[in-house]
Amino acid sequence: MSKKTFILGIESSCDETAASIITENETGEPIVLSSIVSSQNNVHKKFGGVVPELAARSHVEKIDTIVKLAIEKSGVKLKEIDAIASTAGPGLIVCLSVGLSFGKSLAYSLNKPFIAVNHLEGHALSAKLNSKINYPYLVLLISGGHSQFLSVKKLGGYKRLGTTIDDALGEAFDKTAKLLGIDFPGGAQIEILAKKGDPLKFNLPKPILNKGGCNLSFAGLKTAILKIASKIKKDQERFDLAASFQKTIIEILYKKTQIAFKEFEKKNSPEKKIFVVAGGVAANKEIRKMLLNLCYEKKYHPYFPPIEFCGDNAAMIALVGLEKFKLKQFNNLDHPAQPRWALDEDAIFLKGAGVKL
Ligand code: KG4
Ligand code: ZN
Repeated sequence: MSKKTFILGIESSCDETAASIITENETGEPIVLSSIVSSQNNVHKKFGGVVPELAARSHVEKIDTIVKLAIEKSGVKLKEIDAIASTAGPGLIVCLSVGLSFGKSLAYSLNKPFIAVNHLEGHALSAKLNSKINYPYLVLLISGGHSQFLSVKKLGGYKRLGTTIDDALGEAFDKTAKLLGIDFPGGAQIEILAKKGDPLKFNLPKPILNKGGCNLSFAGLKTAILKIASKIKKDQERFDLAASFQKTIIEILYKKTQIAFKEFEKKNSPEKKIFVVAGGVAANKEIRKMLLNLCYEKKYHPYFPPIEFCGDNAAMIALVGLEKFKLKQFNNLDHPAQPRWALDEDAIFLKGAGVKL
């Protein structure tokens, strides 16, 4: 009987310190043996956003405990680990450096291969942690730092079909939450408040809805919400604003996802049309519901990672590590941290003033 493969994944690109051990079954499907995620919400709450230096310090304080815990919980011995995969980007350089250096040092001391992982690739593959999904597929990645539609042809083969030209969707949720008096990161709280509100109460803008293909824009929404939020006094009005914001986002994603479907179909004629939704915002149940209905309507097979693997975690990093390990795609120990690292390196940078759509 051949020995099982065990991969240690490490994630520290932003404000979650995470470690995970995964293996695979006889048919090559991943099995998560442990996944430990330690969030820093309490560290950053009072500042209303992630403070890079504090985040890095917290990673330094916790990384060895989190890795040790993940190894203990998995039941795997340190010497049985076959490779170490760390997030190398994109993210905050001071934070990336912690998990990256830790992973490299461990790989060196164990004399095992080191694998540098793109955090976005982790999200793009995360739905494979609980479902068998064949390439090609379309992915909508909606997180606190990124919002993009990607066509995934194979491991390492990505074509960006659309991206946000300003704020990420999670960022829009967090900024709206802040204007409603909710502590950072308030995205998930918006969903709760929205349940008690009237989604038709406020008419909010839907930037670039009818132009720019499946590119996205959310910054204009924040300005509109700022104006309304400064005038509201009653709790019910806060609920109505949360509900109206969430409904507006759902309408934007409904339209843009249909455009992305068409773009995906232009370049791919798969037997099975597959749509994966990943990233922290993929945890939102109302967004999930709308996208599920849309998939049913347009004959796509929908896949969502389990809620625990929507937000930042190290199981998705270990999964990319496992796939790369099988292809012997290893990295040198001088691999740098890459604060900017696009999955589709041919895609044009589409942010800032003067962007042409
Ligand atoms: O993927 P993630 O953990 O981190 C990044 O890679 O950015 O995503 C975090 C984002 C935050 O902006 C958070 O507010 C948002 O995901 N989020 C949600 C929900 N849960 C988390 N947004 C809307 N509805 C939710 N239920
Ligand atoms: Zn992420």
